[in-house]
Amino acid sequence: MRERRVLLTGAGGIGGVNFVRSLRLAENHYNERFFIVGTDFNTYYIELPEVDLRFRAPRHTSADFIPTLIKLATSNKLEFLHPHPSPEAKVVSENREKFEELGVTLYLPRPEDIMPDKFHVYRKLSSAGVNVPKTIHVKLVDDVDAAFAELGKPLWIRAMKGAGGRLSLKVNSPEEAKMWIKLNVVQGRARQDEFIIQEYLPGRDLAFDSLWFKGELITSYLRERLEYPFKHISLSGLTGTPSVARILRDENVSRIAISAVKALNPSPHGFYSVDLKEGADGLPKVTEVDGKWHTTAPLWGYAFAKAYNKPSYNIAYTYLRLGYGEGVSEALPKTDLFLEEHYLIRQMDSGVVLKSKERSYRVV
Ligand SMILES: Nc1ncnc2c1ncn2[C@@H]1O[C@H](COP(=O)(O)OP(=O)(O)OP(=O)(O)O)[C@@H](O)[C@H]1O
Ligand SMILES: [Mg+2]
Repeated sequence: MRERRVLLTGAGGIGGVNFVRSLRLAENHYNERFFIVGTDFNTYYIELPEVDLRFRAPRHTSADFIPTLIKLATSNKLEFLHPHPSPEAKVVSENREKFEELGVTLYLPRPEDIMPDKFHVYRKLSSAGVNVPKTIHVKLVDDVDAAFAELGKPLWIRAMKGAGGRLSLKVNSPEEAKMWIKLNVVQGRARQDEFIIQEYLPGRDLAFDSLWFKGELITSYLRERLEYPFKHISLSGLTGTPSVARILRDENVSRIAISAVKALNPSPHGFYSVDLKEGADGLPKVTEVDGKWHTTAPLWGYAFAKAYNKPSYNIAYTYLRLGYGEGVSEALPKTDLFLEEHYLIRQMDSGVVLKSKERSYRVV
């Protein structure tokens, strides 16, 4: 039997664990065999994924990060590298040639598409005519007053860079916004000029996940986030990845999300995520577009493939096949890959359930 030899970074993270889980499911569904070498910076979480070999890797900021991956790829004869966390994907994408010279295949967006700063995205999207929340870069403290005068209240403040809604907060007055900036500057989390402030969007929290190959949309799906874990112990109520989300079908939202990806890069290649939030008027506005995997994307694919015994739902496997240059195993819809009104319910140590009106399927 043919064995695919894969190097996965961030293997101990939630996305990484579910990426491996998806490939293990594909071994059964497609009669394949994967030899997976996983790395993670965290000494403990590296124990979690079902990999063949596991290694601790240095942080992506370390000069040893790329040499470590090269060493692992060479000594284990690995053919394909999937850096799952965006900061690692960005560094790997910047060092693309070093891997390609060794015959290690990558299927990644260009570096500038990965983790672009939020103000850059705002400007890019708004000049392309994509619906975005009105946003102001806070360069000086006085810009906060100008923002409230111009945009009204409440407003949404956040750090320009970083994921997981980094340093995000709903603020009701210039005083609150200034105190938030000051606290974070004093405690060394950000510089004074590293915040943006934008109109607060109270509506549905939507996410679009999409796979592209040389500018062509392969498949995508849309969902609504309904609950975040531990939300009561976070000031913003956002804790990065939802504990409950449901699949939606909405042609208009998918069209906006596709135009957002194309505004970032007219020829997208790899996995791209878009976040949208609806305003008080019910209109979706794009808050983020990034050449990254939303955390739950591999898990959605795994859950649907397992619950419906339909291998082609397995989006991590589809990605890998495309990365290997083999195309898709069967035709996929360009949008709405998954069945609507299905809920993915997950919480720490509590398993994962995929639930529709008719049935409830425990997938993990
Ligand atoms: N203007 C806004 N008003 C209200 N909520 C917002 C606004 N912008 C973003 N949010 C909320 O914050 C979440 C995180 O924002 P966004 O996706 O733009 O940033 P991020 O830091 O890249 O987050 P992540 O890495 O978790 O995707 C959004 O999914 C949304 O729920
Ligand atoms: Mg986001």
